[in-house]
Amino acid sequence: MLSQTTITTIKATVPALEAHGKDITTAFYKKLFETHPQLLNIFNHTNQQKGRQQNALATTVLAAAKYIDQLEVLLPAVKQIAHKHRSLQVMPEHYPVVGETLLWAIKDVLGEAATDEILHAWGEAYGVIADIFISVENEMYEKAAADYGWEGYKSFIVSKKVQESDNITSFYLKAQDGSKLPVFSPGQYISIRVSIPGEQYLLNRQYSLTALPNEDYFRISVKREALKDLPEGKVSNYLHNFVNEGDHLKVTAPAGDFTINIDDSAPIHFIAAGVGITPFMSMLHTLADSNSHRAISVIHAVQNEKLQAFHQELTELHEKLSNFNASFYYEEGNVSQKQNAFQYLSGRVNDDTLHQLDTTGVYYICGPVPFMQYVVSTLYKLGISKEQVIYEFFGPSMKIKEQ
Ligand SMILES: Cc1cc2nc3c(=O)[nH]c(=O)nc-3n(C[C@H](O)[C@H](O)[C@H](O)COP(=O)(O)OP(=O)(O)OC[C@H]3O[C@@H](n4cnc5c(N)ncnc54)[C@H](O)[C@@H]3O)c2cc1C
Ligand code: HEM
Repeated sequence: MLSQTTITTIKATVPALEAHGKDITTAFYKKLFETHPQLLNIFNHTNQQKGRQQNALATTVLAAAKYIDQLEVLLPAVKQIAHKHRSLQVMPEHYPVVGETLLWAIKDVLGEAATDEILHAWGEAYGVIADIFISVENEMYEKAAADYGWEGYKSFIVSKKVQESDNITSFYLKAQDGSKLPVFSPGQYISIRVSIPGEQYLLNRQYSLTALPNEDYFRISVKREALKDLPEGKVSNYLHNFVNEGDHLKVTAPAGDFTINIDDSAPIHFIAAGVGITPFMSMLHTLADSNSHRAISVIHAVQNEKLQAFHQELTELHEKLSNFNASFYYEEGNVSQKQNAFQYLSGRVNDDTLHQLDTTGVYYICGPVPFMQYVVSTLYKLGISKEQVIYEFFGPSMKIKEQ
């Protein structure tokens, strides 16, 4: 329990955190990696370079300061972060060094304004917040060990590699020890860890599971990241170019809370751009497997036909699902109309697309940040409530602006 004095002191730092939160977390990570470079084996270096992880941490620290006297408000956010931590094997023994470095960064950035009283209060508050994370994560580690029977990174063999589009390839992964796989919640992801020749540190990335949960294999579907004028994505290109059938990958147990309630009956809308379709594939297979009669729609925006993955698989799902439709948006090139129940449109997902959706359903959104920003804020403007809208970032979470 924090004293009233500590709570008051922490709340008084909210304006300073609003003004300098990103500076503090930037200084924090710089110091953390200087003093504990081994942690670069678990952090995503690209998220650091782009500042996304610094932003995510700054947002969370600010929220913790605002709600320091009612931390239960933060529990959903804590759980989402804890899934990521568990998936990357963040352990209780990591917390003290993060706490010390955070206090150092607060002092470094705020200077004289960070009085002993403030630092003491933040030290105490960090202890309480860290204990919440550690206890949520302990439960997740125990559950993963009990449900899945595996701890840490486990070795998998690539049993099949299948090209899904010009830039997306699926990897089918079987446990190297031949053990049966756990039933995951559709929409969840795994973390994979690779050691790439020439890279000083291990690299870890998350990939959504795209097949119907089954005891034989996981399937991940990876987009080759190659943007003009930017360095090639390290892990995705390594997987595409060098990881073949028979090769090994290290994998942690499925994680994440971007999942569906299979027993719900509300209409369900999956709105994806590009590789953002991946978590929806395991959800759709699960709905089909349970003979769902729910109204299900998919809106998938892609750059062009050649980059569209899973078109054939969605056509097969249409055969199995009684109330399923899909619309595909192509930003460039000619659109070939096919003889099926789907709609093929030129251009981008727009206000008209979203205005046509019924307002009683649940909406799952996944894609690049600007796409999610647009879709989610438009759904809110249409009067759809926050409880109906669920979205997943393929990187550290970001704040969606409501306008
Ligand atoms: C929950 C979750 C689920 C995911 N599911 C999937 C999935 O199903 N399929 C999938 O393909 N991906 C998925 N991802 C994304 C995936 O984890 C990786 O982030 C992605 O594969 C890119 O990794 P990379 O190593 O290839 O690229 P990185 O090397 O991490 O680079 C990423 C991008 O940043 C650019 N970049 C590199 N350096 C800089 C810099 N200094 N400044 C600006 N830009 C830079 C690169 O050009 C590239 O486009 C998921 C992520 C999360 C968090
Ligand atoms: C109370 C303390 C902590 C807070 C508030 C916190 C907060 C966060 C947040 C907000 C994210 C982004 C999650 C997302 O959106 O997906 C994150 C990710 C992460 N955290 Fe923590 N964290 C804490 C402690 C730790 C510790 C002790 C470690 C281990 C050294 C750690 C390692 C990581 C890693 C590796 C990631 C993923 C980073 C990436 O993919 O770029 N965190 N954390």
